[in-house]
Amino acid sequence: MTVEECHKMAEEKAATTAVLLEETRVFHPPKELAENSNVMQWMKKKGFTSEREMRAWTGQHYIEFWDEMAKTYADWFEPYAQILEWKPPYARWFVGGKCNVAYNAVDRHAKGAKKDKVAYIFVPEPTDQQVRKITYLDLYKAVNKFANGLKSLGVKKGDRVSIYMPMIPETPIAMLACAKIGAIHSVVFSGFSAGGLQSRVLDAEAKVVVTTDGFYRRGKPLPLKPNVDEAVQNAPSVEKVVVVKRAGLDVPMKEGRDIWYHELVANQPDECETEKMDSEDRLFILYTSGTTGKPKGIEHVHGGYCVTPAQTTHWVFDLKDDDVWWCTADVGWITGHSYVVYGPLCLGATSILYEGAPDYPDFGRWFSIIQEHKVSVFYTAPTAIRMFMKAGEQWPQKYDLSSLRLLGSVGEPINPEAWIWYRKYFGSDRCPIMDTWWQTETGCFVVSPLPITPLKPGSPTFPLPGFNTDIYDEDANPVPPGQGGNIVNPTPWPSMLRAFYKDPERYMKEYWQMYWDIRPGVYLAGDKATRDKDGYFFIQGRIDDVLKVAGHRISNAEVESALVSHPAVAEAAVIGKPDEVKGEVIVAFVILREGVKESEDLKKELAKHVRSVLGPVAYPEIVYFVKDVPKTRSGKIMRRVIKAKALGNPVGDISALANPEAVDAIPLIK
Ligand code: PRX
Repeated sequence: MTVEECHKMAEEKAATTAVLLEETRVFHPPKELAENSNVMQWMKKKGFTSEREMRAWTGQHYIEFWDEMAKTYADWFEPYAQILEWKPPYARWFVGGKCNVAYNAVDRHAKGAKKDKVAYIFVPEPTDQQVRKITYLDLYKAVNKFANGLKSLGVKKGDRVSIYMPMIPETPIAMLACAKIGAIHSVVFSGFSAGGLQSRVLDAEAKVVVTTDGFYRRGKPLPLKPNVDEAVQNAPSVEKVVVVKRAGLDVPMKEGRDIWYHELVANQPDECETEKMDSEDRLFILYTSGTTGKPKGIEHVHGGYCVTPAQTTHWVFDLKDDDVWWCTADVGWITGHSYVVYGPLCLGATSILYEGAPDYPDFGRWFSIIQEHKVSVFYTAPTAIRMFMKAGEQWPQKYDLSSLRLLGSVGEPINPEAWIWYRKYFGSDRCPIMDTWWQTETGCFVVSPLPITPLKPGSPTFPLPGFNTDIYDEDANPVPPGQGGNIVNPTPWPSMLRAFYKDPERYMKEYWQMYWDIRPGVYLAGDKATRDKDGYFFIQGRIDDVLKVAGHRISNAEVESALVSHPAVAEAAVIGKPDEVKGEVIVAFVILREGVKESEDLKKELAKHVRSVLGPVAYPEIVYFVKDVPKTRSGKIMRRVIKAKALGNPVGDISALANPEAVDAIPLIK
């Protein structure tokens, strides 16, 4: 079949998941790759002869399985006394063990045979700037110096440090330095603006913020530090702001509060004692979007992070000692935490760290990096693939991509059309695609192929070893093939979220309440999915009001409250409109305050306002003015009804709404 035929076929297929379930194309991994894979070695050692049997056994014996993985992948200062203490909804793993993920990620390599191995190949955006190769020993020294620097500022175990940085080596260095001394890092994506940063700094009560003067984007140095100045103005917990000089911008430094990174580390020793952390001690807080406007601080711990990111990188992406790994995610999101920082470093791998955009200076940028650095395993998001598809296959065709042996996808469902294109033009019709389904909350891949799995385009295939992920109906029964339901994890796993920072009620409500009365301890992921007759998962999207724009997770309510913070706006409702590149784009329906005149300029101003409050990630592409939005009798905005009407789909029974007539006034989106 030609790619054009595939495109056409996939276009027809992409319409509904029901059609996806009829996917008959199966792509087997190259025999040699499967045979030599890390997971196959383990299976042979254990005497498993089939993947299905292995996945089933490790699910049933998940406690025993994770015990073995914890001993295989992590070094412990003191062994744990108990593998798991499970008092739903709270799990404690590797109880009584002492460890530190910075030790596993850096110290042990720097003190061993890998000390001169390159940990990061940093490819800066300005193409005339030199690529920097950072060995494990370099990383060790840099982490120690900054850890000592943080200590000199008074940062202690348990303190929170916000990290608001672009994709430069100092970002993982800052994270690891926090981990090393037992401080809790809270990375805030640099695409958030001052408002987005402020709410996260305030909630975390950060003592220190680490940032840069600026960063490079599409050839230009852009400022970052002014956002921090604005954000910390009313954040009394912030004592110091550490600034990395990155873009050579002239930024004001506040006397007594702001300090340059290079001055802070200049005279610090390059040795620093690694704190012996309890397995359950917090490693980081990462804010993510949920149903309400307030971001939730997901808490992760040292013990779990010493084990699952490394183990899943090793099994799913099959990393070998001579591989060059490139995960294109920004460190500001969970994918960057687990698969740019902790997973690959714990394995002692070599990774690309890239600052910039995929289309600058042109669409060949990523391909040229793959060619030049002989990247062998590449992991990105469907939105990037769709962007390249639009740009055309002449871009990958100009480069030698023969070093690639495995590909990966994450963040949103990958449509079969994009899957086939990715395989063909990145992977020479040979590289298997690991479509990994997971979340900020899970900390590691959950439903994913292994390099031995026969693949179906658009499916993340099966629950990984050690997981019992299922699809339940409302009564906690697994759904039959073809039927949709909720993705659940009925059993705990080591890198699961432990809590919401300072909000135990919401933790219970969002993840555990759904099935509590039937079976306490079932984790509700918040995604819908279905399975085909062969058990392959197909993800259908979120069940809650969470948008996925270019793979970034943003809540409708967050954007709505940003809109309402504008003086012209009385009320707002936000929906996602399907988009062929970004997956979804944001569309806002705005009710203006009495007396405010509608105009095209005001629409632009409102979109800009959201950008300045939350950041470019939350920019509404389209703004409509409406007189009213449909609501329930209790006043809840019916986004689902608005979306159906705006997209020209059936709206269903609306007779119970408080104002059914508001539905008619919702315009059809062009
Ligand atoms: O809806 C699922 C989607 O991304 C959500 C998690 O978003 P976040 O916490 O930002 O983490 C993204 C990176 C792990 C999920 O609830 N999602 C993630 N991976 C996939 C996916 N949807 C379909 N297929 C995937 N492979």
